[in-house]
Amino acid sequence: MTDHTLTHTGNTRLAGVIGWPVSHSLSPRIHGFWLRELGIDGAYVPFPVKPEAVEEAITGLAALGLAGANVTVPHKEAVIPIMDDLDRTARRLGAVNTIVVGDDGRLVGHNSDGYGFLENLKTNAPDWSADLGPAVVLGAGGAARAIVGALIDAGVPEIRLMNRTRSRAESIAEDFGEPVIKVGDWNTLPAYLGDAAVLVNTTSLGMKGQPPLAIDLAQLPPDAVVNDIVYAPLATDLLKTARERGNIVVDGLGMLLHQARFGFTAWFGGEPIVTEALRRFVLER
Ligand code: ATR
Repeated sequence: MTDHTLTHTGNTRLAGVIGWPVSHSLSPRIHGFWLRELGIDGAYVPFPVKPEAVEEAITGLAALGLAGANVTVPHKEAVIPIMDDLDRTARRLGAVNTIVVGDDGRLVGHNSDGYGFLENLKTNAPDWSADLGPAVVLGAGGAARAIVGALIDAGVPEIRLMNRTRSRAESIAEDFGEPVIKVGDWNTLPAYLGDAAVLVNTTSLGMKGQPPLAIDLAQLPPDAVVNDIVYAPLATDLLKTARERGNIVVDGLGMLLHQARFGFTAWFGGEPIVTEALRRFVLER
């Protein structure tokens, strides 16, 4: 395996992640692993960019000849007006997580979060398919939007969307304008689990330092898939409870790893794959 970290040349392809703060980001390890594995002369670094400096930083990507960048909290929405173009998903979500700089310096904004979610689900729950039944989605932040979009594109017959602040779920339903989205009441959540084929937690509940997501899964069919997008810890209380009762569980790290594949291929070329070795390397930090 060639380690290009010590042998960059005048042709090194450059990309990175723009966020504030950005030191928590796992993306440099993900891309660094693939660059080394595929022997590509490239580098991927963190860019700590304050909110007031976003426009200058993004314009600088093209000026410096970077291949592009990932965009993370809190800039995913703020970069929209700076893009020269948006793909369908980024436009629909009003959020960009991947910028690709064209040869002519044009900035195109993409959003691969929904793709990452779906690839993670398909890989780790191969028996799940969209037509098996309703999806229950908990939460109504940016992640929920991306996931709802991906589930609609995949063709699920119904999405039951529940959030502590009901109005945020209603605004997702309104923005998508898709009758398959049914907004439910957070307090009566267990009642919506009845014939669900998949349950997805997109809230921050269960994350290190947050309260657990304590829901009664008694109504959930035993063959339903349970996916938590929280990945710190990997085994959340929700996933532990679901596993104990026999449900297939899918943790959240895969969504992060799979969403990264899109940017990697666009900037560096090659077909990176998500492996157990990558997971271990990323978790080692
Ligand atoms: P992201 O954009 O990453 O999805 P976010 O917009 O901060 O993040 O959304 C966090 C989600 O976790 C929201 O759905 C939030 O519910 P509210 O819209 O009611 O704030 C949910 N969440 C956070 N803390 C919660 C709690 N204690 N109980 C229930 N839901 C919670």
